[in-house]
Amino acid sequence: MAKRNGTARIKPQGRGPGDEPVLARLRRHLEFLGLTQTLAELDAQLAWATRERPGATALLEHILGAEAAHKLEQRITRRIDTSGLAERKTLEAFDWAFQPGLDKALVLELARLDFVHRHENLVITGANGTGKSHLLKAFGLRACEQGIPMRYARCVDLLDDLHAGLADGTYARRLKSWARPELLIIDDVGLGQVKKRADEPTAAHTLYNLIDRRHDRVSTAVTSNIALSDWGRYLGDATLTAAILDRLAMHAIRIDIDGPSWRQHVAKTRAIDRGPAA
Ligand SMILES: Nc1ncnc2c1ncn2[C@@H]1O[C@H](COP(=O)(O)OP(=O)(O)O)[C@@H](O)[C@H]1O
Ligand SMILES: [Mg+2]
Repeated sequence: MAKRNGTARIKPQGRGPGDEPVLARLRRHLEFLGLTQTLAELDAQLAWATRERPGATALLEHILGAEAAHKLEQRITRRIDTSGLAERKTLEAFDWAFQPGLDKALVLELARLDFVHRHENLVITGANGTGKSHLLKAFGLRACEQGIPMRYARCVDLLDDLHAGLADGTYARRLKSWARPELLIIDDVGLGQVKKRADEPTAAHTLYNLIDRRHDRVSTAVTSNIALSDWGRYLGDATLTAAILDRLAMHAIRIDIDGPSWRQHVAKTRAIDRGPAA
């Protein structure tokens, strides 16, 4: 006896082994193969095929193409979720005219991520709100789309994570995992308080361990709102900071965004929209 299988809308077109309707078998195959998108869209796809009457090759391409696009999108979403990138910033959403001092051609060239394949580093400096994080988040998104292993963290969060590893004996494992990605984005060096308890090494010490492991092997991209010459004071050790900068920044691609703050621009626009203050 044939089982109920929810195929009432489409007439079974034939019978096969075990007397199971062909449509039920098709659904079983799709489920077994994990072609979940095709399974979910099967009625619509069959309706399309009935309407358009494509050839065999075109029909297979249409159906498998949709499944492949869906699987790729799922994979990218998973990569983004595990990378630490909380928001999807894009270069398409970047207003170049607002930041005329920025070399657009260079940024677009970097966005191809060849520097990652060359294991080069990238350092973007500039005042708050000039779009440093936006650019690196957009690069991070591109990396996820291209299947390049990438992790994103604000500098203070990265240091907090490593220092938490000192307390629970997982420091070595955490250091290894931060050292691994082909692209590591360390955002906002200089922003926020680098916390340090008496039993913890300085931020400079921890960051040095990481940068030294990544050096010449994989690519690190950093943003900073303070001058590199102020990193020593911020990270708490001038000598180790010099060693970090030696590895990270000496041969890095450098961009300094000398321009207006988008945040201030938005705040001003809002104030104007509200009219003169009472
Ligand atoms: N040129 C720009 N075009 C569009 N949005 C921008 C631009 N510059 C900055 N922003 C937006 O302004 C906010 C602050 O930018 P952000 O990249 O975080 O600045 P920074 O890291 O330099 O402090 C973000 O929401 C960002 O998307
Ligand atoms: Mg920033």
